[in-house]
Amino acid sequence: MRHLMSPLDLSVEELDNLLDLAQDIEASPQKYAHACEGKKLATLFYEPSTRTRLSHEAAMLNLGGSVLGFSSADSSSASKGESVSDTIRTVSCYADICAMRHPKEGAPMVACQHSSIPVINAGDGGHQHPTQTLTDLLTIRNVKSRLDNLTIGLCGDLKFGRTVHSLINALVRYTGIRFILISPEELRLPEYIRHDVLDRNHIEYKEVVRLEDAMPDLDILYMTRVQKERFFNEEDYVRMKDFYILDKEKMKLAPEDMYVLHPLPRVNEISVDVDDDPRAAYFRQVQYGVYVRMALILTLLDIHVD
Ligand code: NCD
Repeated sequence: MRHLMSPLDLSVEELDNLLDLAQDIEASPQKYAHACEGKKLATLFYEPSTRTRLSHEAAMLNLGGSVLGFSSADSSSASKGESVSDTIRTVSCYADICAMRHPKEGAPMVACQHSSIPVINAGDGGHQHPTQTLTDLLTIRNVKSRLDNLTIGLCGDLKFGRTVHSLINALVRYTGIRFILISPEELRLPEYIRHDVLDRNHIEYKEVVRLEDAMPDLDILYMTRVQKERFFNEEDYVRMKDFYILDKEKMKLAPEDMYVLHPLPRVNEISVDVDDDPRAAYFRQVQYGVYVRMALILTLLDIHVD
């Protein structure tokens, strides 16, 4: 049985196959409309979500399956003190596959050790968010027609942003990837990722504070929200929250073929006047998130459609 805790749980070949499958689903959705008939997906969300939960559910519904779950810890027995391991043992009796989001790093990993169904990590604290990474990779591949030889700017909260951590882990396996890490000093990429992932894989990167300095060199600009819920005090968050605002003026500094991604939700870091720029890819990214999760559910359930 397979789980998805981190993007590294899939080899590069498996990942490329999964992205190909997602692309085929996009081209011929009706071919897959009954692939998961009789199967159930449980969404166990201990933390708020719009896209991740609903796109997993939409994915299962598009495959002809059904969904059940909870969308906050308050409405589950977690509020009575039930452990993640007891919850997953229970859910294993009700569903065929589950997606779990939890504020504690490693909670989905604990779940998969006690689960008899595949567990998808739908975001664990400031650690990883592998299905967002699959979405990001499919988006990059579609807008740039490649996943290698790219200069990627990661901007915003690189310290707490789990989508950034997972994306870096996945991209360092492709050749010719270069990162420009754009953040205030307080929100730099954690040292363990710089050393264990970037340095160990001999990845070229530089760290800058000003977004304007990086823009002209980028193929992709990956914007992120300052992760309010991970801050220890409100004051620090307020000081950081509007550090970067991408607007029409700044977009003039970017190449014609530099695309902007954002895992969403956006707060103020991308001005709405950027939305109708053809290089704004963040709403397309949302749509790709459904196809890629359909491909993931099929892969983890080992269901093949000819
Ligand atoms: C991200 C997350 O939950 O980490 N959202 C998402 O799943 N698309 C990014 C964020 O919340 O800032």
